[in-house]
Amino acid sequence: SLEQSLRPQTLKQYIGQDKVKENLGIFIEAAKLRQETLDHVLLYGPPGLGKTTLAAIIANEMGVNIRTTAGPAIERPGDLAAILTALEPGDVLFIDEIHRLPRAIEEVLYPAMEDFCLDIVIGKGPSARAVRLDLPPFTLVGATTRAGSLSAPLRDRFGVLSRLEYYREEQLKEIVVRTAELFAIHIESAAATEIAKRSRGTPRIANRLLRRVRDYAQVRGDGAIDFLLAQEALELLQVDRLGLDHIDHKLLKGIIERFRGGPVGLDTIAASIGEESTTIEDVYEPFLLQIGFLQRTPRGRVVTDLVYRHFQMEVPGHDRHS
Ligand code: ADE
Repeated sequence: SLEQSLRPQTLKQYIGQDKVKENLGIFIEAAKLRQETLDHVLLYGPPGLGKTTLAAIIANEMGVNIRTTAGPAIERPGDLAAILTALEPGDVLFIDEIHRLPRAIEEVLYPAMEDFCLDIVIGKGPSARAVRLDLPPFTLVGATTRAGSLSAPLRDRFGVLSRLEYYREEQLKEIVVRTAELFAIHIESAAATEIAKRSRGTPRIANRLLRRVRDYAQVRGDGAIDFLLAQEALELLQVDRLGLDHIDHKLLKGIIERFRGGPVGLDTIAASIGEESTTIEDVYEPFLLQIGFLQRTPRGRVVTDLVYRHFQMEVPGHDRHS
C-alpha cells in the first residue's frame, strides 16, 4: 500500500539520525560478513522519530523476517513462548514499548536473549517439571520512549543501544518533500519548510501535517501547496509558529495561570488540565524541555521566560520600565 511504501525500506532511504544509521550499517554488514545473527538492539527516544521504521529496515537489510509485538500485549510467559518458538533462524523480534513488559516476562526473556533457550514449567502441582527448550537464534529489537525505566538486567542484554534524536528542520523538510513526491502533489519549497518548522522535530508529525495541508489544498485551492496556503491551513489546524498545539498551550498556560509558572509536580499539573501524566511525560514534555520552554527541578516543572515571550505575556519579575 501507499501507506507502507511511505516508510523507507533501507538505511540509504532513511533521512536523518546519521550516527545511528552509520553505526547500524556497520553492525549489520559485519554480522552478514560473519554469517551471524545481529546482536540485540535497543532503540530509544521520543515517540514518532522512526523506531518502528528502523526495526523494519534492520530486518530488511539483514534479509530476515520481522515479527512485531508490544510490551503490554505479552501478558503471560506462554504468550512470549509462543512467539519465540515460532521464529525462524535470524529473524527480528520487534517489541515496541518494551518498558511495559511485565516483570515475570522479562525473566523468561533473559535466557532467551542470552542463550537462545526457554525454561518453561510443564504441568501443575507435584507432577510439574521444568523443561529447557532450544530456540532459533534471533535478534531482539526493543523500542522505548524511556530507557531509564528498563530494568538494568534487561538493558544490559542489548549489545547495541541507539538513541534517536529530534530531527533538524532541513531533514524534516527533506522528509516532507519525499512524502509529497510519493503522494504526487506539488509543494513549494517554502511551504515544505513551513511544515518542517512546525513539526516539533518529529517526522510522524511532519507527515501528518502534510496530509492535512494536502486536504486543505484540495478543498480550498487547486491541490497545489504554496507557502500562503500552507500557512493558512496550519493556522486553521491551530498549530503555532513553533508547532505547539492545543495541548502544549493548555499545559504551559496551565502552569502559568494556576501555579504561577511553577514549580509544580507532574501529577498535579496533569490532573489540573485533564491529561494523563505518562502522556505529558512521554509525548509533550520531551520537546518542551528540548526547546528550553520547560525545566525539571527537584520540586517540579517550571516554565521559562521563553514561554512568556512566546505568548507575548509579561515576564514575571522583569520591570519593563527599568
Ligand atoms: N518518513 C518518516 N521518517 C522518515 C525518515 N527518517 N526518512 C525517510 N522517510 C521518512
